[in-house]
Amino acid sequence: MSPRLLLRKLVSPKLKNILCTVAPTLAILAVATTSPFWALSEKPVAAKVTEDLPPGPMQGKATTACLECHEARIILQQRLSKAAWTKEVDKMIKWGAVVDPTERDVLIDYLSTNFSPDQPPYVPPRTTAEKSSPGKTAK
Ligand code: HEC
Repeated sequence: MSPRLLLRKLVSPKLKNILCTVAPTLAILAVATTSPFWALSEKPVAAKVTEDLPPGPMQGKATTACLECHEARIILQQRLSKAAWTKEVDKMIKWGAVVDPTERDVLIDYLSTNFSPDQPPYVPPRTTAEKSSPGKTAK
């Protein structure tokens, strides 16, 4: 037997062994270390262009009934009492919003809970453009 062949015979099982135990570990490590970077780089890409109504039992209903004519922002900006929301919803129904009478009260509850005067002020999503506006940075 040539020395080369002998070497291969000796090394290859060992190498196989090493590969079998190391390769899956490397694969796991690769996934574990790279996925956070993907997640980070995906975030700005996934940033919403149009905003959503807040989650809740009426989110779906409000999205179909209220975002038919205008963006969510017109609602997100409001800080109204329940009485004012009742007027608002009734006005929108008069204007053509399709709200089932059985859902009207729940919708008013949803809106007056999420957009009451107790809520913090609405913050528009594009804050970076505002920060760079001239005059505001002086202080
Ligand atoms: C048929 C179209 C239509 C639908 C459906 C609709 N709206 Fe409106 N909404 C309007 C129009 C038109 C305005 C006035 C927009 C403006 O002033 O630029 C408006 C304005 C608003 C405003 C701003 C305040 C005001 O009265 O001008 C709020 C709040 C509002 N809508 C809430 C809602 C909610 C909540 C719903 C779902 C129940 C809804 N809208 C469904 C047409 C609609």
